[in-house]
Amino acid sequence: MKVIRNISEIVGILPEGVLRRQGPEMAETGVLKDAWLAVEDGRIKGFGPMGTEPEESAEVIDAEGGMVMPSFCDSHTHVVYAGSREGEFLDKIDGLGYEEIAARGGGILNSSDLLHRTSEEELYRQSMVRVREMMAKGSGAIEIKSGYGLNPEDELKMLRVIRRIRSSVPAIVKSTFLGAHAVGRGYSHEGYVQAVVDMIPEAAEYADFVDVFCDDGFFSPEDTERILTAGAKYGLRPKIHANELAVSGGVQVGVKHGALSVDHLERTTEAEIEALLGSATMPTMLPGSSFFLGLPYGRAKEFIGAGLGVALASDYNPGSSPSGDMRFVMALGCIRMRLTPVQALNAVTINGAYAMGISDITGSITPGKRADLILTHPGWTLTKIPYTYQTPFIRQVFLNGEIL
Ligand code: NIG
Ligand code: FE
Repeated sequence: MKVIRNISEIVGILPEGVLRRQGPEMAETGVLKDAWLAVEDGRIKGFGPMGTEPEESAEVIDAEGGMVMPSFCDSHTHVVYAGSREGEFLDKIDGLGYEEIAARGGGILNSSDLLHRTSEEELYRQSMVRVREMMAKGSGAIEIKSGYGLNPEDELKMLRVIRRIRSSVPAIVKSTFLGAHAVGRGYSHEGYVQAVVDMIPEAAEYADFVDVFCDDGFFSPEDTERILTAGAKYGLRPKIHANELAVSGGVQVGVKHGALSVDHLERTTEAEIEALLGSATMPTMLPGSSFFLGLPYGRAKEFIGAGLGVALASDYNPGSSPSGDMRFVMALGCIRMRLTPVQALNAVTINGAYAMGISDITGSITPGKRADLILTHPGWTLTKIPYTYQTPFIRQVFLNGEIL
């Protein structure tokens, strides 16, 4: 057993059985000041006020007044990619928009060409550099999508790389088949949708979820419906890219098919809020891509005001959000979306875990859950994390009870 002593405060405490936070609950979190926390067999064994700590602990860690919080749960990333898109970064500085770059054959297709030319070993190596950085920055659960293959061989190459990452890191890794990210080279639109449907049986051997980029210029709600229906036959629950570029109808299709999450939501109306109310679907916003592309930020406060939960994720990818820093995501949530630090914390922990279907095992400080924790340097508070948003705050990351 390990005991962390002299913790200034533990934040993110939740009772067992709480799987997500919605509406007014978003503003609440359990806090215990001047505390200890015990870890055994990779799990949180218990916690309590200093003076009541267990005596027989094998290992004592002195937090010296640091704070303990759950590690981040990043429910939407594309970190398996090859090379970079720095040329497009320069085009963007020159004034080209995301859709213009895509229409010129850049964007996702550019990454797809690069991935095709990169060996599986090299793709794994490049992706692992990013995953290691994300863990060091406090992410303990990471969803990773395919979607730069865009043909059967290369999509499977990506899914194998995601599986290999999953087996080599202490973070929880969830895998999503995003064959419908863009129409692959050499296919007609219709032909590609059929090809994605045909890829599903094999992809389902690797993936936990199925995703579709349901947006203007990419895939329609009808295409999405076909792919989700095919995915459901193989047990793939949907997570949808919706309403990034236009009011796409993707939220409604996602809710109809029991999506675990609908993501992006830079452009939403009352109709999307209505569709989500009472559903099991977690609205997930990606402020890193709003920041990088200069898009509107999701209307998180209105969603919460309507009684919904909100998750925030990094969308780490080479085209719209080249960062997997969840602390920065939290900061954007507070600074640009005007979430309180507690709302942002819930959005990047328990609700992110819910959006990956793992909030029963991680995403909060709860006895019995995996000990996926961040211990801060002494003197930090929850509010300081997004406020002084670039000052290093992490002293140690614990994943599955082990120091990273
Ligand atoms: O979530 N919007 C679609 N997919 C990614 C961007 C992928 C890329 O540009 O490479 C996103 O933003
Ligand atoms: Fe994305």
